[in-house]
Amino acid sequence: MIELFARYPRLVDTLPWRALGDWPTPVQQADPGFHGEACAGLWLKRDDRCAEPYGGNKVRKLEFLLGAALEQGCRGVFTFGVAGSNHALATAVYAAALGLEARLLLTPQSNSSFVGRNLRMGRWAGARHVHCPTEAAARNAARALELHGPQPAFYRVPGGGSSPLGAVGFVNAGLELAAQVRAGLLPAPDAIYVALGTMGTAAGLALGLAAAGLKTRLVLVRVVRQDIASPERFRALYHGAARLLHRADPRFPLRPLERARIEVRHDFIGPGYARFTAAGMAALGEARAAFDIGLEGTYTGKAFAALLADLRAGRLAGQHALFWNTYNGQPMPAAALALDYRTLPTPFHRYFEAPYQPLDPEA
Ligand SMILES: Cc1ncc(COP(=O)(O)O)c(C=O)c1O
Repeated sequence: MIELFARYPRLVDTLPWRALGDWPTPVQQADPGFHGEACAGLWLKRDDRCAEPYGGNKVRKLEFLLGAALEQGCRGVFTFGVAGSNHALATAVYAAALGLEARLLLTPQSNSSFVGRNLRMGRWAGARHVHCPTEAAARNAARALELHGPQPAFYRVPGGGSSPLGAVGFVNAGLELAAQVRAGLLPAPDAIYVALGTMGTAAGLALGLAAAGLKTRLVLVRVVRQDIASPERFRALYHGAARLLHRADPRFPLRPLERARIEVRHDFIGPGYARFTAAGMAALGEARAAFDIGLEGTYTGKAFAALLADLRAGRLAGQHALFWNTYNGQPMPAAALALDYRTLPTPFHRYFEAPYQPLDPEA
């Protein structure tokens, strides 16, 4: 049973949820030789292999969102993202696992080797990819899917899975980490480093940690445009998730958002979303040395680069820091990688034919 339901049993009957992952995800400590005196301890939260065949942070959100789609009797779901969106891929994979159709409304992005891999795996999972030249076009395509009579046939999964209900997956993650601290598996972290995109991960985590009484500081490394990762949206997700849980079980505490515990870092995004940076790409090698994990250049490389910079600047001296690995660590199925990309709509072919951006590991 997930920690949220163990602590608040009334939620079992009041929240939509379908099991997709294997919880709790392990915590792992880096060899002290990696950081020396720069911090007291460096830890990793391993959401990378939380589910099969695709891990990463989206699984926790989808357990609730796809649960809601099933509860509402929908035939499928649709969601938004850029062409290589990890969230869109995770939605495709787990919608199919639960017998739901998936429509992915995808906007253009800079090219990298992972974009083609994610497109292929989404197709392999049976999703239908819809090329949307702009975000406005994606909204129009969504409206067309929603206009299906009084009962929507397609459930709207928000971009990144970040609605209050999706964020509840990370409230559970915060409670799960607190239970691991109580069990003596790691000390209470002074700081958690995590990539900041559509913010459901961070807002849910902030709420879960507050509900568990942990005083951890969240260091949120922004990797998307500022209007997507805005303080207003963060507050709306945090309080929205808190109200939803409190309504479903009044024992769930309505705690204020303690701004002092939240630090947003704007200095690691580089030229923009999904545009790789030298620091972010260098961090991939360091993450492999510290934990033997594979990160990527859009989210986790930039977040780990922030952690490394703080270690080097002496900002973590005497502290325990935890890096939350939000990226999938499962190998892609061979059949997905072998899929003929020409089975995708033509506008997506360019991700297989055009050059990758210069810092791409396969460029
Ligand atoms: C690997 C990875 N890390 C972090 C994030 C950011 O999570 P959130 O959108 O909840 O802020 C994403 C979102 O797509 C992601 O794919």
